[in-house]
Amino acid sequence: MADKATLEYNGQKFDFPLIKGTEDELAIDIKTLRSVTGGLTTIDPGYKNTGSCESGITFLDGEKGILRYRGYSIEELAEKADFLEVCYLLIFGELPNKEQLSAFHIDIKNESHVDEEMKKILDAFPKSAHPMGVLSSLTSALIAFNPVSVNVTSADDMYGAIVRILAKFPVLVSWTMRKQKGLPLDYGDDNLGYVENIHKMMFKMPTKEYVKNKIVIDALDKLLILHADHEQNCSTSTVRIVGSSHAGLFASLSAGISALWGPLHGGANQAVLEMLEAIVADGGDTKKYMAKAKDKSDPFRLMGFGHRVYKNFDPRAKIIKKAADEILADLGIEDPILDVAKGLEKEALEDQYFVDRKLYPNVDFYSGVIYRALGIPTEMFTVMFALGRLPGWIAQWREMRLRNEPIGRPRQVYIGETFRSFVEVDKR
Ligand code: ACO
Repeated sequence: MADKATLEYNGQKFDFPLIKGTEDELAIDIKTLRSVTGGLTTIDPGYKNTGSCESGITFLDGEKGILRYRGYSIEELAEKADFLEVCYLLIFGELPNKEQLSAFHIDIKNESHVDEEMKKILDAFPKSAHPMGVLSSLTSALIAFNPVSVNVTSADDMYGAIVRILAKFPVLVSWTMRKQKGLPLDYGDDNLGYVENIHKMMFKMPTKEYVKNKIVIDALDKLLILHADHEQNCSTSTVRIVGSSHAGLFASLSAGISALWGPLHGGANQAVLEMLEAIVADGGDTKKYMAKAKDKSDPFRLMGFGHRVYKNFDPRAKIIKKAADEILADLGIEDPILDVAKGLEKEALEDQYFVDRKLYPNVDFYSGVIYRALGIPTEMFTVMFALGRLPGWIAQWREMRLRNEPIGRPRQVYIGETFRSFVEVDKR
């Protein structure tokens, strides 16, 4: 097999080495492109063909529908692991043994207080503020209360920053929701499991005991695992690029939350549910919405369909569809939204437009149905995604800093005006 790629330009040939990943992915290493060719650059809007880094965290094969965290299949992890184990695995590279997992959890619990002053910041937001905006701001505000920058060459410092954010982020998530619902801000309970505690912080009513519901906690755990990492997607690339300027972990995460908010990325889960609700309210005519999605003069897209990388099926969508069926049955909920979702999926999978463009349901097509069944408000769906993605962002940030990657700074091809002289305002 070839070990280099040759570029011919201006009568000269330039060789570039090939890099092979552990799963046999091949990439052309163009690090020297500009220097050897005298300034040639590449253009690749949306980075559809560009690898930004070498990474050992998540492998996915969009054609075969494979997703693995640190080598373990998403199917096995969703079935057998819990979210805290997956956090540890993603961040540190190996599944923890019992002692490591227990120490990890204790260290997180010991960091779970959030400065009371943070409540003043939360108070300043109107109730109508979108929770993603609030969460991004609160995450950024955490820096002010934890101003010591992380010495990334110190394993202790790094570990400290990681457990700190894994502890405080769920508190911020719960406060974000409780603020919107007008509920008093709650704290966790060290006697509970990591995900159970998150659920308690979100849902505990002031006058009632918190009662654990295993079906609900297991469902939440599974959803968080499915969202935990997805290699160099928009928000993760944002976290890495912000961190590459040596901005701190919390600042990088806050930027990642903003990137995730968009409806083409994490915001799709909210958009899917709103779309399904609109279809139900409109009489359930899925054909009408299929036609809109295919009409190029109509900006409507079938939310929850299509993926930049998966062009066959999204393995997470398979797991989540099955989970949605089971959870709704377990909780005894009949939801017309699920029927519309299934109908829409069936039609799309048989429709030439969707088949030709390899558009399949993605992870968020069914996640909203489950969140809804768990009593999570629609506007909180993307926040739940952020909660799940937190360990992935941390792992990617950590890897980037430990590899001492250079600052992210893409090139461009300038297409604006060429040189012109300044004209005084009264002469324009
Ligand atoms: N509905 C209708 N048509 C679509 C859809 C859709 N959901 N997605 C893509 N297409 C069409 C495009 O119009 C385009 O058609 P054309 O070739 O005739 O111009 C073709 O399929 C390719 O689409 P692109 O936007 O170029 O594909 P890209 O890989 O850039 O985008 C994306 C992927 C953003 C996910 C897109 O499929 C989309 O917008 N989906 C809906 C939003 C969504 O569900 N996002 C969640 C992604 S998963 C996640 O973040 C967890």
